[in-house]
Amino acid sequence: MTNSLSVAPGKVILFGEHAVVYGRPAIALPINEICVRVGVSPVINRPVDSVHLTSSQIGLNSYLDELSAHDPVKQIVQILKTELSISHIPACEIKIVSTIPLSSGFGSGAAVSVALIRALANFLGITLSDSRVSDIAHKMERIHHGNPSGIDNTVIAFEKPILFEKGKPFETILLSKAVHLVVAGTGTRSDTKVVVSEVRERWLQNGLKYEKLFDEIANLVRLGRSHLERGNHDEVGILMNKNHEFLQQMGVSSDKLDRLVMTARDAGALGAKLSGAGKGGNVIALVTPKSSSRVITAMKKECAQFAFQSIIQVSGRGDDVLC
Ligand code: MEV
Repeated sequence: MTNSLSVAPGKVILFGEHAVVYGRPAIALPINEICVRVGVSPVINRPVDSVHLTSSQIGLNSYLDELSAHDPVKQIVQILKTELSISHIPACEIKIVSTIPLSSGFGSGAAVSVALIRALANFLGITLSDSRVSDIAHKMERIHHGNPSGIDNTVIAFEKPILFEKGKPFETILLSKAVHLVVAGTGTRSDTKVVVSEVRERWLQNGLKYEKLFDEIANLVRLGRSHLERGNHDEVGILMNKNHEFLQQMGVSSDKLDRLVMTARDAGALGAKLSGAGKGGNVIALVTPKSSSRVITAMKKECAQFAFQSIIQVSGRGDDVLC
């Protein structure tokens, strides 16, 4: 057994969150400036299945068998063992280091799953395709998010811009121009499971309104894809603003999210919206290389807990990994 290391990025949703749970398409982008790294190294002179885990971000410093059955990291390892029909793991040390803010709409849970699945499989000498990694991570997402669409595990496992629709193979978005985003955090945690189930409640009570909103969003997702592929960022920005309005009507925005969206636009962003489940979490703003630092400064001055630039290169895949 040799050392194994795996890195998984964060993600944002450019268009279509929530509607994607109801079978509409959505667009997601990997964010390489934040990531999860998982290292697995062999430990000699310890019995088999002696698996020690550390993660300072989630306060983890235990042996696997000391963790409760509900511990998310333990659950990922169990799912992987079942999927790969493995009964024992050689003694090892697993270190999880993450720069992805938790419960903030960046897919931190899916990123831990993807990085851990890959690192542990490599350590065991097993090569998994991206698609297999994504499927296994989706099983984990189901335990934690109830009814996840699968968009987070897909964009994070494949590390490229995607158009995702539940139950269909995803489509790669071929950017013709690098996408410059400013990503800003409200500092308010957003529990995807709770927000998704609140939307479900309202959809059950007012199906017509929500189905119409989801259809409107689906239209702008399709338009957004074509503008992204043609490099029409002015149009992409306008559609992001429209998508934010629909999310407000869905009841998933918040005062802080709205303030950050307005601030970004006033500071020169081409468009801005909340990203992810909402009610907290993060805002993304489409900027130009010129307006980027102005938007970052304005958002920090308003109420952002953090704001940084993320560039999604034309190839879309982590060739510019800064994390
Ligand atoms: C979460 O990143 C996006 C949501 O649409 C939930 C999901 O797709 O599972 C809010």
